[in-house]
Amino acid sequence: MIPPGLILLSCFLCHVAIAGRTCPKPDEVPFSVVVPLKRSYEPGEQIVFSCQPGYVPRGGIRRFTCPLTGLWPINTLKCIPRVCPFAGILENGTVRYTTFEYPNTISFSCHTGFYLKGASSAKCTEEGKWSPDIPVCAPITCPPPPTPRFAKLSDYKPLAGNNSFYGSKAVFECLPHHAMFGSDTVTCTEHGNWTQLPECREVKCPFPSRPDNGFVNYPANPVLYYKDTATFGCHETYSLDGPEEVECSKFGNWSAQPSCKASCKLSVKKATVIYEGERVAIQSKFKNGMLHGQKISFFCKNKEKKCSYTEDAQCIDGTVEIPKCFKVIQVNGHWFTDLTFLSLF
Ligand SMILES: *[C@@H]1O[C@H](CO)[C@@H](O)[C@H](O)[C@H]1NC(C)=O
Ligand SMILES: *[C@@H]1O[C@H](CO)[C@@H](O)[C@H](O)[C@H]1NC(C)=O
Ligand SMILES: *[C@@H]1O[C@H](CO)[C@@H](O)[C@H](O)[C@H]1NC(C)=O
Ligand SMILES: *[C@@H]1O[C@H](CO)[C@@H](O)[C@H](O)[C@H]1NC(C)=O
Repeated sequence: MIPPGLILLSCFLCHVAIAGRTCPKPDEVPFSVVVPLKRSYEPGEQIVFSCQPGYVPRGGIRRFTCPLTGLWPINTLKCIPRVCPFAGILENGTVRYTTFEYPNTISFSCHTGFYLKGASSAKCTEEGKWSPDIPVCAPITCPPPPTPRFAKLSDYKPLAGNNSFYGSKAVFECLPHHAMFGSDTVTCTEHGNWTQLPECREVKCPFPSRPDNGFVNYPANPVLYYKDTATFGCHETYSLDGPEEVECSKFGNWSAQPSCKASCKLSVKKATVIYEGERVAIQSKFKNGMLHGQKISFFCKNKEKKCSYTEDAQCIDGTVEIPKCFKVIQVNGHWFTDLTFLSLF
């Protein structure tokens, strides 16, 4: 008769001998899952490794049985991320990326003149596909520009079918009698619209008034408009101060208001003066006097330093002041300036 306690003990011992040691929780393989996952396994228990979504197994074994030794065999399984299709090139744009692997996101931008048709970023999914789809960079276009009232297109070439590409220009011209306010050129912007359109407005000018001692000619029309011209002239011995021709400006006034100014009679009959950088004889160059605005330089003498210098005189509406320093001397019926007299002796 065997005591029951011994039976129990031997059963326990034989159980240990048959069962061997338990296996611990297996070493982790990155991005994998183990089924079943427990703290310990009895010898003979099976476990299965599989990769997490987005990862694919490479090498190694996936199914293991806990051996009697209680030591899991070395597992060389690797779970590597899925790779999405190459997306490093975007026509007329740029892609920002590190890798094309799950679970990375890449982003897109377009070169100037193009816009992103689609999403600005995409993610590599568990299935190894880009989501959302890869966008495209489409050229920015503007529809034909609207024509402002009283204007016409003078330069415009649509190059994108009936439309224009980003940066294209169109030039407007106003109809006759109309002046332009704003830029005549518009540009196709990144928003697909045109920059500010100009405005064309009808502009009238009053009849120009006749200057004193002169006259003005202008078209014999009932109304004078933008760009119409008038020409001015002066009666004899008067000269024009201002341009001969004036134009009706976009502000509805004339580009200038010329007037007639009197010429100057010269009290000095003979002298050498400087006019426009040249030495000229006053008696020949200015025998009819000086015109309004003309300027000459007289030679004067510095008695102490015995040297000469010049002083200016300008004809202003009939008056010219001869420099006080200027002297003329008469010798044997000839007139000399102080200076020429000096140099003769
Ligand atoms: C856009 O891409 C196309 C095709 O690569 C190329 O021919 C064209 O020159 C590009 N346009 C610009 C403005 O870069
Ligand atoms: C341009 O416009 C004309 C007239 O509206 C139209 O018949 C033609 O189909 C358009 N062309 C394109 C390329 O859109
Ligand atoms: C063009 O479109 C942009 C964006 O919608 C807008 O801000 C801008 O004012 C528009 N430009 C003109 C000249 O209408
Ligand atoms: C014409 O009018 C404009 C705007 O009022 C002014 O700036 C300009 O000086 C005027 N021109 C003349 C020649 O008076």
